[in-house]
Amino acid sequence: MASGEQTRTRGEQWRAQRERQDRGARLAAICFVVAIFAAFGLMAVYIAGGQTQLEGLLLFIAFGAVGAGLGIWGKRVVGPKIVVEERYPMRSTDQARDEFEAAYEESLGEAVVGGRRRFLLRLLAGAGASLGLALLVPLRSLGPGPGRDLFVTEWEPGRRLVDAGGTPILAAQMAADEVRTVFPEGAEGDAKAQALLIGTRPDQLQRDELPAETVGDLVCYSKICTHAGCPVGLYRASVGELICPCHQSTFDVNRAAVVVSGPAGRGLPQLPLGVDDEGYLIATGDFNEPVGPSFWNMTHDVDV
Ligand code: FES
Repeated sequence: MASGEQTRTRGEQWRAQRERQDRGARLAAICFVVAIFAAFGLMAVYIAGGQTQLEGLLLFIAFGAVGAGLGIWGKRVVGPKIVVEERYPMRSTDQARDEFEAAYEESLGEAVVGGRRRFLLRLLAGAGASLGLALLVPLRSLGPGPGRDLFVTEWEPGRRLVDAGGTPILAAQMAADEVRTVFPEGAEGDAKAQALLIGTRPDQLQRDELPAETVGDLVCYSKICTHAGCPVGLYRASVGELICPCHQSTFDVNRAAVVVSGPAGRGLPQLPLGVDDEGYLIATGDFNEPVGPSFWNMTHDVDV
């Protein structure tokens, strides 16, 4: 009799646990469905033009719901585990065994547990897939491919060097230690083509290291830092070094503007120089390399 009481009590425990797990499974399923709707809502808001706060809220709901669903699943569906204390064999009565068997089949059959797990896994996969889709949608915001634009500037053979006001520069006017910001004639202010014309000190230029032509002791380099694109502007004439004010990359003007120190990954591109019939400085081509920060498919050998 006492044994039958204990068995019935255990049967009730299994039933109660099964109910708790059912409630937990329903709750977890609701969370995953909420995550799916939030992810689709996020895509809809983005495609309709976007609204930052609403998108943030939907992203929060989507991730929050997935997290809550997983938490509920782990805490209320998978566990807690009923642990039975080890003891010596003690056979129950036949009636108690029949009752227990019935309760077990009713509540914890493998098919039920497996079906519930499969159902929740499918919903979780749905939530993950819709979130992944929502995160891919912003790829639409990427602009058109840059094509050759990253590799060429306004500089071309015969184009005069002018200052910001459009005044051409006579080669004979440039003195040692003098630095001027120059542009291609007709493209004054062009950010990509801006360059620094520098009068180096006599006999300091390492001409065999320069990749492009020079005129006398004059050299011309891109003004755009190859680290993150700041304008390089500080010239230490005494040591022939250009310094970028943003993160202190330092370039050796006399040695093809190679990097002396700092985070820049390569030197400043050089503009080949010449002089026209009237003595004005001209470019004899474009920079020897693409200007600006390095990027994934740029190499020193690139043909511009
Ligand atoms: S942008 Fe010039 S050093 Fe960083």
